[in-house]
Amino acid sequence: MSVTVIYGSDGGTTRSVASRIAKRLEAKTVDIKSARPADLEGCSLLVLGVPTYGDGTLQADWEDNIETLRSARLANKKVAIFGLGDQETYPESFVDAMGILYDEVVELGAEVVGATDTDDYSYVTSFAERDGKFVGLAIDEDTQSSKTGKRIASWVAQLV
Ligand SMILES: Cc1cc2nc3c(=O)[nH]c(=O)nc-3n(C[C@H](O)[C@H](O)[C@H](O)COP(=O)(O)O)c2cc1C
Repeated sequence: MSVTVIYGSDGGTTRSVASRIAKRLEAKTVDIKSARPADLEGCSLLVLGVPTYGDGTLQADWEDNIETLRSARLANKKVAIFGLGDQETYPESFVDAMGILYDEVVELGAEVVGATDTDDYSYVTSFAERDGKFVGLAIDEDTQSSKTGKRIASWVAQLV
């Protein structure tokens, strides 16, 4: 399985989580700022990482480069998404950006894998929650960093 992790990050936290995930999957990582559609297409599993900003919006580099994603041929491709957020400060838009990317890749015909349970988090609403599950892996380095290692390990095990 060849894996590519594409991420965007303002403060570096998502970059660091992307590296931790990539290490376990022997994947390459590419910042969305410099990614080309070929980077997204040339793998058997595509992993996307995004923090939420504003009141539930995409991180700026994802917003600025969303056409790179939209122009990639992702029909039937396996895609997994992880989202960074802060459930205590932003309980009504927790990891919303993960839900935004989910809708984008579903629109492109991708097969999204890696949904996870919402138990063990405490928030009010999340655009990334669909049918009672997160569409991908939710990571909160601001308030639950002690859980991150275990969450990454079990998600990666689910993906392979
Ligand atoms: C101005 C600002 C707005 C934010 N808005 C949200 C939000 O709406 N929902 C959320 O879950 N997290 C929100 N966060 C938390 C970030 O997503 C979180 O700190 C993340 O780890 C940052 O990742 P980065 O260092 O890769 O940029 C916000 C953070 C800041 C500074």
